[in-house]
Amino acid sequence: MIPMMQTLIFISGKNWVLSLAELSAYFKARAIRFKLDYFSTEFFTIIFEKELSPSVVDDLGGTIKIASFKAKVPTETIKEAFLKKSKSAQTQVVETIVKTDILKNMAQTEGKLLFGISVYTSDNNIKTAGGGIQRYIGSHLKEELTALGKNSSFMGLGKDRGKAQLSHVEVLKKEFVEKQAEVLLCIGKTDTLIGITIAVHNPFEFQKRDVYKPNQRAIFGMPPRLARMMVNLSACTSEKTLLDPFCGVGTILQEALLEHATVVGVDVNSWCVKAATENLEWLEQEYRLSDADFRVISGGVAHLAEKVGVESVDCIVTEPDLGPALKETPTKTYAQKIISKLHPLFMDFIEQSYQVLRPNGRLVIVTPYIRTRSKERITMTIDEKVKEIGFKRIYAFTDDMFSANAPDHGRLMGLPSLVEMEERHKVGREIHIIQK
Ligand SMILES: C[S@@+](CC[C@H](N)C(=O)[O-])C[C@H]1O[C@@H](n2cnc3c(N)ncnc32)[C@H](O)[C@@H]1O
Repeated sequence: MIPMMQTLIFISGKNWVLSLAELSAYFKARAIRFKLDYFSTEFFTIIFEKELSPSVVDDLGGTIKIASFKAKVPTETIKEAFLKKSKSAQTQVVETIVKTDILKNMAQTEGKLLFGISVYTSDNNIKTAGGGIQRYIGSHLKEELTALGKNSSFMGLGKDRGKAQLSHVEVLKKEFVEKQAEVLLCIGKTDTLIGITIAVHNPFEFQKRDVYKPNQRAIFGMPPRLARMMVNLSACTSEKTLLDPFCGVGTILQEALLEHATVVGVDVNSWCVKAATENLEWLEQEYRLSDADFRVISGGVAHLAEKVGVESVDCIVTEPDLGPALKETPTKTYAQKIISKLHPLFMDFIEQSYQVLRPNGRLVIVTPYIRTRSKERITMTIDEKVKEIGFKRIYAFTDDMFSANAPDHGRLMGLPSLVEMEERHKVGREIHIIQK
């Protein structure tokens, strides 16, 4: 057993499984020792052996907030307090917060103090009570702050807001991290954790890389947050070389360059080669990357080993062609036709990848995940090829990352791939992690 020193709460993005997989890969790649103590669709509790810098939030595509754990109360008490309206339980919740250093730290803010409260839970009954919980705790903390000699106001949310949560933009704009002024109430199955936000995702930075880079075309790009999550899944760190052989406008390359990796792009389309190069040059200037090391080469993946070099890269992260843009949900037959047409390109590419990767190198690859009219999902089978070549599949979740108290995680450990698909999309992404 290693002694564990710091407990942090991570608020996940929409795709919590992918967010959790990213965190686990990020920590493992940096030999940061951790245990996952709790997970739910909304938040994770992670215990670390050493203190983690809050700035890691800028390296993550799938984490919205990080909070420092301060205290806990049984979730039963929360239910008594806010579903059954027990006065003594309500008092107990407020007293638990008052006993921490949360109010004292807030009270040190100059001028009038503005503070906020966000409630995270995957329990629908409690979710509907979220606004009430927020207002009750807010008004009582305001009274406590007055008793500490601090004039404060509580940032309430309109009743029309579905969730009793401050958005990352609100937290950024009100400078709640610097002012230690956002209290989180993370309601789990048995325990409710109380924390204070210490880091928040900055959507403007990701947006800047998405919309202000000189060259962009949706069909040759992807969302930077997803690109960053994939880079992290590949265990990419500053001393490694990362290749994207279908680099398009270079979104994946950009995110890897921000991790200070050496990056190599390849694309069959000469416009993309120029576009990605210019985008990387822009990033180098915009982020003042004095150590930026990148090159983009023109070529098809058929001759990848010749172009890039045998056993010359540590990570390959890529999204090849996912087929035509679909206006309507396809039939099963049409979806299967799309997959068969793309199949040879993917199989050739997997073979080439093996040659280019160094031993233990990782390939993170997206394959199409197609929704059909019959509701069946049509996907591409790559397992046979992966095995035949000598690659092995990496499971994002392993038993050793869970603490003895963690909820049942059998289902997570059995997941061979990660799926990213929005409600409105016909074609989603199936993300595979494969190792040489
Ligand atoms: C979906 S885009 C990739 C997005 C990119 N990964 C990013 O980070 O923005 C797919 C790219 O694959 C390229 N491509 C298609 N067939 C190819 C092939 N046989 N060899 C190399 N590139 C190819 C296309 O030109 C296109 O730019």
